[in-house]
Amino acid sequence: MNNGKVVLVSGGSRGLGKEIIQYLLENEFIVATFSRSETDFIKVLREGNDYKDNFYWESLDAKDYNSLKAFVFNVYKKYGKIDGLVNNAGATLEQLLPVTRENDINDIINLNLGSVIHLSRHVSRVMLNQNDGVIINISSIVGVRGFKGTSVYGASKAALDGFTRSLARELGSKGIRVNAISPGFMDTDMTKNMSAGKKAQIIRRTPLGRLGKVEDVVGLVRFLFSCEAGFITGQSFIVDGGLTC
Ligand SMILES: NC(=O)c1ccc[n+]([C@@H]2O[C@H](COP(=O)([O-])OP(=O)(O)OC[C@H]3O[C@@H](n4cnc5c(N)ncnc54)[C@H](OP(=O)(O)O)[C@@H]3O)[C@@H](O)[C@H]2O)c1
Repeated sequence: MNNGKVVLVSGGSRGLGKEIIQYLLENEFIVATFSRSETDFIKVLREGNDYKDNFYWESLDAKDYNSLKAFVFNVYKKYGKIDGLVNNAGATLEQLLPVTRENDINDIINLNLGSVIHLSRHVSRVMLNQNDGVIINISSIVGVRGFKGTSVYGASKAALDGFTRSLARELGSKGIRVNAISPGFMDTDMTKNMSAGKKAQIIRRTPLGRLGKVEDVVGLVRFLFSCEAGFITGQSFIVDGGLTC
């Protein structure tokens, strides 16, 4: 993918999404993103002069599927095309299933899976008209291996991998590639409440001996957007320092 391309990244206000956006803007992509709240990172991009014309943000809750449709419409109206989509927004839920509230289950499924399906649906309609596009779904190793207390989150991410494979088959003939990245545990807000003991246990079990960094994942995002990945679709790539090997 060349510079000047328009990429939509969900949940770009912090963590992995922020790092992906930073990479894309520095490499002259045009970026559209949303999150519920405006962080300093978003504020600086919106109010500063560096990326003013190349950056678009809206405040929305991805569980409100109508607002996803409106967002895609607004991005298309503003830039006239959408070349890439990174389905990054997600949340975790660490709780044993028998004591998990119904609303919390629905929220995780509606965000981690439902919003990805709906956002991909709207964006793929634009990409189909262009006969070109790259979709990257941010999944998790929790969709591949079991971890106690993460059954709902794991279900949403395993479903995302299945979604990736079938969507790749649907869109491949139109030049649209669909892949997933499954990071291991990364040092972001999402894991900030994890106990020191659990972090130490994960590091002990990881051949490369540390937690993941958002930068570890951005390299793969960069590759999947590039021409070098032009014959790769329908795959899920694990980036976890070997934890699941
Ligand atoms: N961190 C890890 O260890 C890890 C490991 C494997 C996979 N992942 C996956 O990587 C992705 C990014 O995770 P992260 O660690 O960067 O998380 P994070 O630091 O918590 O950031 C999540 C981003 O998503 C946005 N978001 C959350 N709920 C939203 C909603 N309802 N509507 C709109 N935006 C929403 C957040 O903004 P607002 O809160 O302002 O809405 C934020 O921008 C997720 O899909 C996650 O499952 C993370």
